Amino acid sequence: MSKNAKAIAAQIRAVAGPEPVRLGLVLGSGLGHIADCVDGVAIPYSELPGFPHAGVSGHNPNLVIGNLEGVRVAVFGGRAHYYENGTADAMRLPLEVLRELGADTVLATNAAGSMQPDMPTGSIMCLSDHINFSGLNPLIGEQTDARFVPMKDAYDPVIRAALRSAADATDTEMADGIYAWYSGPSFETPAEIRAIAMLGADAVGMSTVPEVILARFLGLKVAAISTITNMAAGMSDEAISHEHTKAMAPIGAAKLEKVLRQYLHDLK
Ligand code: HPA
Repeated sequence: MSKNAKAIAAQIRAVAGPEPVRLGLVLGSGLGHIADCVDGVAIPYSELPGFPHAGVSGHNPNLVIGNLEGVRVAVFGGRAHYYENGTADAMRLPLEVLRELGADTVLATNAAGSMQPDMPTGSIMCLSDHINFSGLNPLIGEQTDARFVPMKDAYDPVIRAALRSAADATDTEMADGIYAWYSGPSFETPAEIRAIAMLGADAVGMSTVPEVILARFLGLKVAAISTITNMAAGMSDEAISHEHTKAMAPIGAAKLEKVLRQYLHDLK
């Protein structure tokens, strides 16, 4: 744990109060509405030394600490992506701070393209596993033996089961699937999509995987949900663009919010 994380956690507690945080939530493109639902305090990343700039449009770079469905949460309204400046570990400090605030779990969300015809735009998918197609790793350069992080069951089976129950209880359709990480920022070619689909991936995106590796490294439990904003390249005639991602994200986001609220309600 870096000294920096302890200092930032103290800074946050001074503003948001000393009560421990239970869970962290990382919001993907177009999912900012969830941060607005939290009854609490918003702190701009720019006031937290070492936090990423998170400069992608559709992301809201505040850390919001407060209650959602009676559970104390920390909502990261923006995430850093590898493609922004070529560093895969930019979310390490925010996740260290999350752990320092008392959380034992992080729930990541993202926008993704689908390779499954029965998982169309507007669907949500609970990640069961991932494939790291980028060849990058946020732990490159880490000196301790803790860098050899086991990644079996990285997506916590107990949390996944609780999310499944929450989806069932709210009559929300939620697929299970494998997420492939390409670095971006260019979208994939149809040939790349065919290749990863053949290898078993169900959805594709430009985020989440580095955070999941970092979170497991830090001993945090992890779950992740994708909102499907488009069929992946070559899968349909649908447009693929960041504008389209932002326009479509709210459809899945409404489903994700239902599942998340029920999950938190049940956690209480
Ligand atoms: N590819 C990569 N990232 C994405 C996509 C996609 O098709 N859709 C939303 N994020």
